[in-house]
Amino acid sequence: MSKKQYRPATLAIRTGHERTQFGEHSEPIFATSSFVFNSAEQARARFSYEEEGNVYSRFTNPTLTLFQERMAALEGGQACIGTSSGMSAMLAVCMSGLKAGDHVVSSHSIFGASKVLLNSLLTDFGVQVSFVELTDLKQWKSALKQNTKMVFFETPTNPLAEIGDIAEISAIAHNHNAEIKVVVDNCFCTPILQQPLALGADVVLHSATKFIDGQGRCIGGAIVGDQEFVGEKVLGFMRTAGVSMSPFNAWVFAKGLETLSLRMTQACNNAQQVAQFLSEHQGVKKVYYPGLESHPQYELASRQQSMGGAVVSFEIDGGRDAAYSIIDSTQLLSITANLGDTKTTITHPYTTTHARWSDVDKEKVGINEGLIRIAVGLEDPQDIIEDLQI
Ligand SMILES: Cc1ncc(COP(=O)(O)O)c(C=O)c1O
Repeated sequence: MSKKQYRPATLAIRTGHERTQFGEHSEPIFATSSFVFNSAEQARARFSYEEEGNVYSRFTNPTLTLFQERMAALEGGQACIGTSSGMSAMLAVCMSGLKAGDHVVSSHSIFGASKVLLNSLLTDFGVQVSFVELTDLKQWKSALKQNTKMVFFETPTNPLAEIGDIAEISAIAHNHNAEIKVVVDNCFCTPILQQPLALGADVVLHSATKFIDGQGRCIGGAIVGDQEFVGEKVLGFMRTAGVSMSPFNAWVFAKGLETLSLRMTQACNNAQQVAQFLSEHQGVKKVYYPGLESHPQYELASRQQSMGGAVVSFEIDGGRDAAYSIIDSTQLLSITANLGDTKTTITHPYTTTHARWSDVDKEKVGINEGLIRIAVGLEDPQDIIEDLQI
């Protein structure tokens, strides 16, 4: 592609494809484990990164590069590493940026497995972790210590759509120590709605499984940031630990990026209608959606992300029985915990995505038994609304 500064919709379609000698128009899948060298000397030069080029698909592959270049272009980062899942993206960042004795500050309100990774896996290896309220900047400030090396949060959060102020939290962390890595899980917004690096974060994480795939087919993740940390340290971890993205999955995600902007816009428009309907329904106690003016951080959300997102959570009276009854009465919606699909999904976070948290932890962030999460897809929004028997 030429060096002209293209806009995001163009970057998502045109970045990263180096046409082969066959002149293919659509991007090929390089289904190969390893790459052949012209000589033993060339092999040596490639293995030592002295010469650019592919070596072994655990850490380099042209289809993976295609996906990585597109993601980096969309998030505005210098480098991207694709991983086997969203969780392995988080693991790779932690393993590349932390060692025993280091300290991490994270918000309480994060995806279930992300908290388990911080709270048990990392602490087992001697990393200290403190949890704070996402929206309370004073808590972020006072939790930082001399040995704090990483700050982690997602915004909007899964499932309660709390908004973290990326610019403020990044500034607080960097004023304390410029070396701290501010890591933002951008899964719910994607770079189409929000670009954390431009707001001051250092690293962006993705579960590509969600909106980037967009049709619920593959598991994958991505890490975007600078050349030194992501392009070298995280790549080094990937080369050694091999939590790699397969060429097929990289191809699905790269092609998914081509339509991401259209899909996100439509899913957000649909979600806005579903959220509006729920907010006017007498049987609904509370709706969690950043695109509603009633959201406590509506102003921040409107500034930080260009639309409300595609995930709407709501609370009803009657606890688990009432929530299960609404979920089980749906005919169209899929009862599954994935999100970011063309198909709208419905789940009970208390007993699925956040099941491994203690009851106390769940209640602390507001995930109760009467909470239902809908990840709005691309069906007609009226059909989605009519499927909800509240
Ligand atoms: C916000 C968020 N981050 C990370 C993940 C983990 O991604 P994966 O399932 O691809 O490992 C998820 C999965 O639901 C998620 O919702």
